[in-house]
Amino acid sequence: MDKLNISRLFLILVLLYLSGRGNANVNFKETPVDVDGKLKQLNKPAVKTIQSEDGDVIDCVDIHKQPAFDHPALKNHVIQMRPSFDLKNEKSSTENEPSKLVVSQTWQRSGSCPEGTVPIRRIQRQDLLRANSVDRFGRKPQEIVYKLNSTNQKDGHFPYINNTELNLPTMVNRSGATLVTVGFNYIGAKGDINVWNPNVESADEFTTAQIWVKGGPGDDFESLESGWTVNPQLYGDKRTRFFAHWTKDSYKTTGCFDLTCSGFVQTSSQVALGAAIEPVSSEFGGQYYITVGIYMDPQTSNWWLKFGADIAIGYWPASSLLFYLNHSSTLVEWGGQVYSPNVKKTPHTKTGMGSGQFASGLYGNACFIQNAAIVDYSWALKYPQWVGTWADEYYCYTAYNYQQSYGTLPVFYFGGPGQNPNCP
Ligand SMILES: *[C@@H]1O[C@H](CO)[C@@H](O)[C@H](O)[C@H]1NC(C)=O
Ligand SMILES: *[C@@H]1O[C@H](CO)[C@@H](O)[C@H](O)[C@H]1NC(C)=O
Ligand SMILES: *[C@@H]1O[C@H](CO)[C@@H](O)[C@H](O)[C@H]1NC(C)=O
Ligand SMILES: *[C@@H]1O[C@H](CO)[C@@H](O)[C@H](O)[C@H]1NC(C)=O
Repeated sequence: MDKLNISRLFLILVLLYLSGRGNANVNFKETPVDVDGKLKQLNKPAVKTIQSEDGDVIDCVDIHKQPAFDHPALKNHVIQMRPSFDLKNEKSSTENEPSKLVVSQTWQRSGSCPEGTVPIRRIQRQDLLRANSVDRFGRKPQEIVYKLNSTNQKDGHFPYINNTELNLPTMVNRSGATLVTVGFNYIGAKGDINVWNPNVESADEFTTAQIWVKGGPGDDFESLESGWTVNPQLYGDKRTRFFAHWTKDSYKTTGCFDLTCSGFVQTSSQVALGAAIEPVSSEFGGQYYITVGIYMDPQTSNWWLKFGADIAIGYWPASSLLFYLNHSSTLVEWGGQVYSPNVKKTPHTKTGMGSGQFASGLYGNACFIQNAAIVDYSWALKYPQWVGTWADEYYCYTAYNYQQSYGTLPVFYFGGPGQNPNCP
């Protein structure tokens, strides 16, 4: 043991003693030196800085100096400035909307980033101090991913797809309600995600409404994700924010939210990952949604993230970062996830998913994802052929793929309040 380790051990012992509980779960907060070094590494020099009304600081960073290029595999990466593909019928689904309600990012009212720069939400000292560990800052919490079986199965419903039960991996501290498709190789997925601001009970919990594009075997997968989240520990408030997340080892040691680690290459000067979006929907009032799409570029294998009708935000360079998703995805999910140490437990968390209302509330009450679509090698967006719904805890959060009438596309509803009389 070197001196540093001995002094850390001593500090831990002191903390344990002071906590008076002998509880081994004491959060070991980092020293300011770690924090300063990390801040310097995360926040790149700004060409221009925008102070947003919501308290965020947006740095316009030279596109060639963004965090992605700290990644050893991306040292000589040549930026792809725009996607090389054009999806058939990509825009039709949004153009036909009778009343298109526009969702924008709060910071955009205070300025814009010049061409050649990308807007990056600045990480503040207090953001790092809130995290349990500076090293894991920005990641979805580490989780043991396991497959449900007769001994550990509690409430979970497996999705039935094509009359076959799909044994999905599950996680201890997360509860999901999703629409799932398997059966093909997917090179894209899209959905219009209804925007809400559900309750998050305590600061170390979060809730999402999102798309997952996954590859790899069940309990060791790669995943590219985007949608909205309320995540007080990461962002310091309970606003609804647009996010992206990736991992190449089922959340163990790689990947992160937004640009809080190196990996995602941003090209857009218009949209900032992790920034607040508005307005949010209200019960039986205006319904707002964001269109999110994740598509693999056939020429480069880069997975592009698109927002709104046609803003290409940037991409995950699969040929350098990923293995299974280097060629295609084998599983796509749409829906919500609650992270909390108090899911699958009594008392259950009161953190809501979606709008905080059950899927059966339908339009105006429950959160929806409409125009769910996948892309296959025909390069057209299509409603997925083999779908199933699933909910980890169907007394707490529900999933319902609702088809209003024959010939119309189903709309996926999901969510719930968490704790309630049937989910004590
Ligand atoms: C779930 O969360 C609790 C409390 O934070 C933690 O102690 C535990 O290790 C987590 N479980 C897994 C499997 O990650
Ligand atoms: C069921 O899962 C548990 C842990 O998730 C594992 O320890 C056990 O071996 C599994 N049982 C079978 C029959 O696969
Ligand atoms: C669904 O069932 C049909 C008929 O048995 C089969 O041809 C098809 O491959 C199945 N699809 C999936 C995804 O299992
Ligand atoms: C991705 O695929 C390309 C071409 O098949 C290959 O050259 C490259 O090494 C692969 N990357 C990884 C990380 O496996």
